[in-house]
Amino acid sequence: VIPYGRQLIEEDDINAVVEVLRSDWLTTGPKIEEFEKAVCDFTGAGHAVAVSSGTAALHAAMAAIGIKVGNEVIVTPMTFAASANCVVYQGGTPVFADVEPDTLLLDPVRVVEKINSRTKAIIAVDYAGHPCDYDALREIADHHKIFLIADACHSIGGKYKGRKTGTLADLNIFSFHPVKHITTGEGGMITTNNAELAGRMRVFRNHGITTDFRQRQAQGAWFYEMTELGYNYRITDIQCALGISQLRKLEKWVARRQQIAGVYNMAFSGINGISHMAVRKWVSNAFHLYVIRLNGKNATRRNELFQSLRSGGIGVNVHYIPVHMHPFYWTRFGYGSGLCPVAEDASGRILSLPMFAGLSGEDVERVIEVVRSAVAN
Ligand SMILES: Cc1ncc(COP(=O)(O)O)c(C=O)c1O
Repeated sequence: VIPYGRQLIEEDDINAVVEVLRSDWLTTGPKIEEFEKAVCDFTGAGHAVAVSSGTAALHAAMAAIGIKVGNEVIVTPMTFAASANCVVYQGGTPVFADVEPDTLLLDPVRVVEKINSRTKAIIAVDYAGHPCDYDALREIADHHKIFLIADACHSIGGKYKGRKTGTLADLNIFSFHPVKHITTGEGGMITTNNAELAGRMRVFRNHGITTDFRQRQAQGAWFYEMTELGYNYRITDIQCALGISQLRKLEKWVARRQQIAGVYNMAFSGINGISHMAVRKWVSNAFHLYVIRLNGKNATRRNELFQSLRSGGIGVNVHYIPVHMHPFYWTRFGYGSGLCPVAEDASGRILSLPMFAGLSGEDVERVIEVVRSAVAN
């Protein structure tokens, strides 16, 4: 089976990890800062805070901006549940605003409609790797004096009007799960130009304690204080060594993803009843996912095509069920169908095809052939 996404681990990655295993520091060591600095250098962001997952990064972001009971945060429904769950962790309410029909990205027009005096932030998700319309979202956030958060878990290596993801919002979130562009096994990071927020997130990832073990060791001191409630969201040096090694190859891997997308686009443009997501001319799409949409006579055939592609050895998937349609969100917040009609309609007609840097030309051809024959049947 060709999976929809897969990590690419090479000898240099393995050697980097082995080197840490032979060193003094498995966690809270020098590789954490080195990885953070490498991501700052790559993106152009001023500060980076590495944590144990993209979910932990989202949670740290919500804590840093002070989300609490009574606050609302506007979120896209076209995402993994973690993008909204982070608001709930802090006692806040995620408010879902619908997406644009052709990109499935958070629609700035719908965002404005949801803003009220309780709104504290917007979480935009660069769905499938396509950066959102950050100029429009920035204007809304500034006008209402609220935070703009970019869940860029799909879009590391992507660009919006020449600016790299990781610099496009007040806080920018990355994930290094194995299906993402670069991996640390599990891992995440927040980038920002706000030193104060970065400092808060460093404390948050370490139980709310203001110094870490290595800082105390360097000072020859034992005393430490916990100033607020935090978590153990630390990432290990083992993981960061892998991240540093992977990051060196990110640009090349994004280029390969874009090339695969080009081949898919060409092949599917000739098939009736299949279309791909729109790409705005001002972005460089990082293509975490390659999503097709079924139209016309194929519009109601998604589950059937899912089955026949899976039987044909193609590991297709569906990204996503809109978050407000999950049972937790109906029961906790009373959400349900009809809240975001564009996302709900799209969700029934999309399929994610295999997309990863290690996908061979032969595999791409096989995917195209199996899709072509499944659609024709
Ligand atoms: C858009 C988005 N946000 C957040 C996450 C959570 O990241 P992690 O799995 O690293 O916790 C993911 C993926 O897993 C994601 O796709």
